Amino acid sequence: MSDRVQPPFDGVVYQIYPRSFRDTDGDGVGDLEGIRRHLDHLAWLGVDAVWLSPIYRSPMADFGYDVADHTDVDPLFGTLEDADRLIAEAHERGLQVWLDFVPNHTSDQHPWFQASRSSRDDPKRSWYVWRDPAPDGGPPNNWMAHFPPDRPAWTYDEPTGQYYLHQFLPQQPDVDWDEPELAAAMHDVLRFWLERGVDGFRADVVHLIGRDPDYPDDPEHLLPAGRAGYHDHPRTLEHLRGIRAVMEAHGGLMVGEVNLPDPSRVAAHVGPEALHLGFYFGLIGAPWDAAAWREVIGDADAAFLAQGAWPTWVLGNHDSPRPRTRFGGSEARARSAAVVLLTLRGVPFVYAGDELGLEDAEVPDDRVVDPGGRDGCRAPLPWVPDEGHGWAGEPWLPFAPDAAARAVAVQRDDPSSVLHLHRRLLAHRRDSPALVRGDQGLLDLHPEVLAFHRTFAADERLVLCNLGDDDLEVDLPDPANDPGAPWTIAVASDGAGEGATFSGRLARDHAVVLAPGSGSR
Ligand code: NOJ
Repeated sequence: MSDRVQPPFDGVVYQIYPRSFRDTDGDGVGDLEGIRRHLDHLAWLGVDAVWLSPIYRSPMADFGYDVADHTDVDPLFGTLEDADRLIAEAHERGLQVWLDFVPNHTSDQHPWFQASRSSRDDPKRSWYVWRDPAPDGGPPNNWMAHFPPDRPAWTYDEPTGQYYLHQFLPQQPDVDWDEPELAAAMHDVLRFWLERGVDGFRADVVHLIGRDPDYPDDPEHLLPAGRAGYHDHPRTLEHLRGIRAVMEAHGGLMVGEVNLPDPSRVAAHVGPEALHLGFYFGLIGAPWDAAAWREVIGDADAAFLAQGAWPTWVLGNHDSPRPRTRFGGSEARARSAAVVLLTLRGVPFVYAGDELGLEDAEVPDDRVVDPGGRDGCRAPLPWVPDEGHGWAGEPWLPFAPDAAARAVAVQRDDPSSVLHLHRRLLAHRRDSPALVRGDQGLLDLHPEVLAFHRTFAADERLVLCNLGDDDLEVDLPDPANDPGAPWTIAVASDGAGEGATFSGRLARDHAVVLAPGSGSR
């Protein structure tokens, strides 16, 4: 199958949440200069692209996912000149720069919305979704906002006597892509950044931009509080066609956050006239359990490939507890999960800080700032062990536990660190066509072991991860291209035995990448 599906991108994407990366000007919030100063580090690590969560002007009600000016940088992060410099210096190091594109909504402070709400006759009225109240005076339909909890997705605007739609905060009004002028303005935003040298975008909740113009009640939105409804309307595909045409004209790539639970519905948004890639979040929801991982990986891989789409894999992001925290604080499991992430068929996304094995920060109630309660995974990165960990000012959130021991400088000096494991995995992946673009088959070697085989022409790898409670022995199949030959440990989650012939013994919570051949030691 995969000989028909070409990966649109060969590399690994590193997600930076700019507020939390590195502060250089002393306001406690990370900035573009902080990212620029660490480009050499990212090149050393071996990632291929950095995706920056929103850097645009914003009142920060949703920390940048409420954009007030799409074509300027928020002063918290720097200036347009800083962005230009960052892009140029990243390119000098062979790193791509991807920005976040927020197509579903803007800030209520955006001039487009300010005009839209000013009067029913304003030419931009139709750029947003305004509807009359229901006969009882309530919201036009039953949709609930994703957050804050228990809030309708509509807010009444007294001066013009209508409700506006916001599937997130009231400060994030939804735009209407059925309005051609709005679509054209959004296309211009993409062009603006592509012309500045940006290589790609991550499109925020892009599955929400196509909607039934009648806005009927939606049974999905009747889920209990705290569980958001899922939109999946075919008009999204029409809007994606226009977006893709802009990307094609400039040679940019787009990965969409298609936050739907069914991987075949994610894959349906990927294609030559749609997204290049679509996020699939199944691994974020999977417990530490071999059967669960096999099911998530097998189902998603099959669903993507069946539709000619190259998969993506995500273990962490700025919206979810970090993998190490989800796996009970176990560094061994976080390491093994990274081995799987970086060897599966598909484009891997590494969330900054996961390569340090960070846990979520414990954020006291009086320091919680996110309306969605996602503060813990947004803790600042520790760069050095000393007090302040390299941050110029007191950071906007507390550091994660063990920040001194987990600091970048400490881990760079320690070849056995989680950071070095990531570096070895990234280097190994880059040199293996089987891992970058090969076929993949799940193997049933042991009930507690996730095992998959990757092949591309003569290159092959076998990946094993023990998700059980015990150390165990596995019987391995022969290498396909070299029957009878043993397997060598190319990368081990704990670094042990790399370069040696694999014995078949795999400790609990451990993972290995194996290559055919007898070990040199
Ligand atoms: C998804 C983003 O990842 C999240 O951080 C944000 O709050 C929502 N979309 C709304 O933009």
